[in-house]
Amino acid sequence: MRSNVIYRIFIFIRLFSTCRLQCFYVCRGQPYEIVCEIVSSPPQNNAKVAVLGASGGIGQPLSLLLKNSPLVGELSLFDIAHTPGVAADLSHIETRAHVTGYMGPDQLDAALKGCNVVVIPAGVPRKPGMTRDDLFNTNATIVATLADAVARNCPEAMICIIANPVNSTIPITSEVMKKYGVYNPNRVFGVTTLDIVRANAFVAELKGLDPARVNVPVIGGHAGKTIIPLISQATPKVEFPADQLSALTARIQDAGTEVVKAKAGAGSATLSMAYAGARFTFSVLDAMNGKDGVVECAYVRSEETECKYFSTPLLLGKHGIEKNLGLGKLSAFEENLVADAIGELKGSIKKGEDFVANMK
Ligand code: 2OP
Repeated sequence: MRSNVIYRIFIFIRLFSTCRLQCFYVCRGQPYEIVCEIVSSPPQNNAKVAVLGASGGIGQPLSLLLKNSPLVGELSLFDIAHTPGVAADLSHIETRAHVTGYMGPDQLDAALKGCNVVVIPAGVPRKPGMTRDDLFNTNATIVATLADAVARNCPEAMICIIANPVNSTIPITSEVMKKYGVYNPNRVFGVTTLDIVRANAFVAELKGLDPARVNVPVIGGHAGKTIIPLISQATPKVEFPADQLSALTARIQDAGTEVVKAKAGAGSATLSMAYAGARFTFSVLDAMNGKDGVVECAYVRSEETECKYFSTPLLLGKHGIEKNLGLGKLSAFEENLVADAIGELKGSIKKGEDFVANMK
């Protein structure tokens, strides 16, 4: 009888880097042990992540946050100046990511070889009175040049673009990747996470909530009225009178400009943007490592509206976007915001596409 054979079973589950199931049982008076290395594969904490524009105002704190993460095995820092210093500085931090600095166009290809994720904060920031679109002339060329190098050196990488104007730099990146026949729309992201981060912070402040528990989806694009916070879909559920809802929405849409004004000529958001860029990168890495249920909003190729590119919540997976979760149910107020954003977004998308079409 079974009870004669195995009459005592102890099970210990020990969690190391792998999950170990250890069983002890006693069979006819003899102790036996079975150790099964099973359950889940270890997280692949060896991602090689490149930061292009690593010496800049966003690039430095972003690189610091990435260096601090156990998800990153190699950190490849590229910029046109100062990267040896930034890399030497970060390399003294007692975390496992191996840091390498690359400087100047001649070293760009080497910086990108074998990268799994490329984050691009490169480019110039706004000064007071400028819109993100005013950066187009300078940043479009920078992003196109960097995208070209990504297409040639690590076409399979997840590409996370922070460089503004994001509403145009994503179409630019996509068109450059298409020129090389390596475009994968599931792997090209416009990082809009700062809009979600700000919405969470402002809602938490108004309602006296813990910001870590608040989640406000923000859809559309990443400039002025194309930034569309969906307060009706916030968790936990929150409600505001109409005038407060309008003021809150406007504050989220203009939050970047609030920082530009406060910095009075010294640039735009760098620290909160670095935080948001790192949060998005960690979500991408978590999903690549097989974590389930990773959802982030990002500005991507989309069929959800009449705009070719649009930000919505995305379920991320091992190969980038697994599922576009769409706009969800909008309030009448939010439907108007979407309708109001479409014209500007289409214009910014066309501007990016035309730029690449006319490139020599
Ligand atoms: C912002 O929203 C820099 O676009 C960035 O502040």
